[in-house]
Amino acid sequence: MSESPVSKALYERATKVMPGGNTRTTVYMKPHPFYAAHGKGCRLTDAEGVERIDFTNNYNSLIHGHAHDGINEAVHAQIERGSAFPMATEQEIRFAELLCGRVASFDQIRFCNSGSEAIMTALKAARACTGKPKIAKCEGAYHGSYDFAEVSLDPTPESWGNADPKSVAYAQGTPQSVLDEVVVIPFNKPDEAERILRAHAESLACVLVDLMPNRAGLIPVTAEYVAMLERVRADTGMLIVLDEVITLRLGYGGGQEVFNIHPDLSAIGKIIGGGYPVGAVGGAAEVMAVFDPTQDKPLLPHSGTFNANPVTMTAGEAAMHYYSAAEIERLGSLGDKARAGITAAFADAGIAGQVTGLGSLFRIHVHNRPLIDYRSSLMTAEEKTFLGAILRHMRDNGIFVNERGVCSLSTPMGETEIEQFLDCFRSALNAVSNASRAAE
Ligand SMILES: Cc1ncc(COP(=O)(O)O)c(C=O)c1O
Repeated sequence: MSESPVSKALYERATKVMPGGNTRTTVYMKPHPFYAAHGKGCRLTDAEGVERIDFTNNYNSLIHGHAHDGINEAVHAQIERGSAFPMATEQEIRFAELLCGRVASFDQIRFCNSGSEAIMTALKAARACTGKPKIAKCEGAYHGSYDFAEVSLDPTPESWGNADPKSVAYAQGTPQSVLDEVVVIPFNKPDEAERILRAHAESLACVLVDLMPNRAGLIPVTAEYVAMLERVRADTGMLIVLDEVITLRLGYGGGQEVFNIHPDLSAIGKIIGGGYPVGAVGGAAEVMAVFDPTQDKPLLPHSGTFNANPVTMTAGEAAMHYYSAAEIERLGSLGDKARAGITAAFADAGIAGQVTGLGSLFRIHVHNRPLIDYRSSLMTAEEKTFLGAILRHMRDNGIFVNERGVCSLSTPMGETEIEQFLDCFRSALNAVSNASRAAE
């Protein structure tokens, strides 16, 4: 990181009042995090006054970049009327209508305040609906911070077991009972996953799947895997719960439309908040009925002080209104251009590397192993150092990318920003390979 005295001083203050000076592990970086000052469109300015093109977009949540005029206008009008009420609002109904109108599997929807909460709520709904306790999830997939969804987020060759994936605790203190209730399956290996799912069918409420799990390589799900999930559901009655917190952006009707899968429930979040905290669970009316408070006691009572607050509903409605089918297609073409440019840059530089992703999402990998799942995408220590150096060079030269090399596009971007990204990426490859040659 280049000299950043303002951020350094802010971090020193922060360490006195927050553990490690931090309240959100993902934004922590050594020697200290960046501190944001302001953003507009696809440009983000840090506390030193350095402006960069933002390819992280608050971890893929700002589909329109920063301070979008249309969203701001709608939000300003709402905050003049109040930000939260002990009553339901029409804004909530309007936004529910919009989302149910877009996503084919959503007969009904229910709002909460984060993607983690949406995942937790969807898993609890699957248990309430089926009366079964276990959930299955893919190894290495990130679904937020609910204990059950965190299992086997980051296993290593030492912990993941020799045969089928094991349930491995992510956080210290995870009870064994949680590990016992989570069945871990490999992503994109339909035969192995099917065998494991069927072996647990009697106690399995659902399988939780992200169609392109970013921490597990940002590798798109295969048609064979989708067919396997639907076949096992038909035979066993387990529900399919999709984590569309990130993939919703892939199609007008979400990633489920792109990959032609028909979930019982989906958890969504990020872009639907228009820049404000959000989560939601949508799905089939028979399953969503578990929340219905018109029964004496719903099978799954669900509340939240800020659920469906009108600021988020208003921002979300505006954001999704501006995220049209034409914009999704345009960003998809820009994504194709970025992926082709990264592939060519690796080849021109003679450096092993590849890129995964789809639509407006892509991820840089610094090896040529065939990528199918978490295990094949897991970086060695050397690869982590090498990728870290590339991304640091990019951040020092006007492009903001996160530590994992997962990038997302926003609607204020055009060809120019992709070219700037690719120029910077090429110069990063040269700089880093020259530096490693000099060190040999
Ligand atoms: C795929 C996926 N699911 C769930 C979550 C959790 O969402 P939130 O951070 O809003 O709790 C994230 C967050 O990055 C995510 O990427």
